Amino acid sequence: KVNAIIFDLDGVLVSTDHFHYKAWKKITDQLLIPFDEEVNNLLRGVSRLESLDIILDHSGLEVSDSEKKMLAEEKNQYYVEFLQELNETNIDSDVTSTLEILIEKNYKLAIGSSSRNAKFILERTKLKQYFDAVSDGNNILNSKPHPEVFLKAASYLMESPENCLVVEDAYSGIEAGNEAGMITVGIGYAADADSAQFSIKKLSDILEVLKN
Ligand code: BG6
Ligand code: MG
Repeated sequence: KVNAIIFDLDGVLVSTDHFHYKAWKKITDQLLIPFDEEVNNLLRGVSRLESLDIILDHSGLEVSDSEKKMLAEEKNQYYVEFLQELNETNIDSDVTSTLEILIEKNYKLAIGSSSRNAKFILERTKLKQYFDAVSDGNNILNSKPHPEVFLKAASYLMESPENCLVVEDAYSGIEAGNEAGMITVGIGYAADADSAQFSIKKLSDILEVLKN
């Protein structure tokens, strides 16, 4: 029985993909290495430093650990600058109305995001009010596909994993949800992930999934 729903943030509730892309693009242009939307899709759900490793792997460029830290930090400065443009008008009405219906139906709601900017994004978009708990990149040691972020969310909600449903746009996130023993629902980029137990086109389709 599903008691709780854990939502990934970026790419599920809010479209920050393009901001991530533009911020990484500034870094890769400086380094004179290639970067495109296809590689950007591989960064979904992956932590900041691991994202940089994926980008560097695709370029063959080798960089010291201290330089990597600096580059990841710089990327984040660009990203946070882009986030200043974000506000509640960037949230689809399908998202807010679905969250309202789920609350009315007494589901517990949490965020399970790899991002260390999750709380900032939730505040800027006024989404924070909908959630009973936020598990994000600040309270985990291992990022997705490791299940830690979702297991922490479930424990904050005091629910066992088998009573939780995860909504994800990242393959790494679907894997994390499956690994956590939760029901997994793919949306957006992960809508055609074979490993997801359900697939939806828009967030409100989750209301149908919950009838199963
Ligand atoms: C995830 C995004 O939500 O957060 C990834 O899908 C991103 O693309 C990761 O790398 C880490 O985010 P941040 O904000 O801590 O750099
Ligand atoms: Mg995501």
